[in-house]
Amino acid sequence: MSEQRVTRRQFLSYTIMGVGGFMAVASVMPMLRMAVDPVLQVEAGGDFIATTVKVDELTNEPTRVDFQFEQEDGWYTSNVTQTAWVYKDDKGEIIALSPVCKHLGCTVNWNSNKDHPNQFFCPCHKGLYEKDGTNVPGTPPRGPLDRYKYKVKDGVLYLSRRASAVRGA
Ligand code: FES
Repeated sequence: MSEQRVTRRQFLSYTIMGVGGFMAVASVMPMLRMAVDPVLQVEAGGDFIATTVKVDELTNEPTRVDFQFEQEDGWYTSNVTQTAWVYKDDKGEIIALSPVCKHLGCTVNWNSNKDHPNQFFCPCHKGLYEKDGTNVPGTPPRGPLDRYKYKVKDGVLYLSRRASAVRGA
């Protein structure tokens, strides 16, 4: 049986490497967590929030729906209120549009400008959108309104926490 001796130099070298490695990991972990956490939040945010809307009551006229939920951001918890414009299209499919203008983020309203009936109108720079959220060419917005995902449970409308861009737009 051979006896291996650790020299003082080796001992110091191992100790410094161990402590250095621990400090490196300890300093990088918070940065990694900060970078990855929003991604995890989006995944976790895949759940749906109950609204006060009964699906049977929806018509083909966009209706403003506000819904609230608690959002945790690190150690801070806040109450978030989201808004959607919701209606049923000709096929009975539910459409839930974000009111956030795709130009500079003002709030659009349905049928609020008498010169542009049955369209979403943004008062900030006169942006216009069709009922399905498509931006009207020649007005400032460069893309369609985002849409909320939805599900129906016991006749009640549930909406995703965040609206997202329409695929292919
Ligand atoms: S922010 Fe809506 S048109 Fe500019």
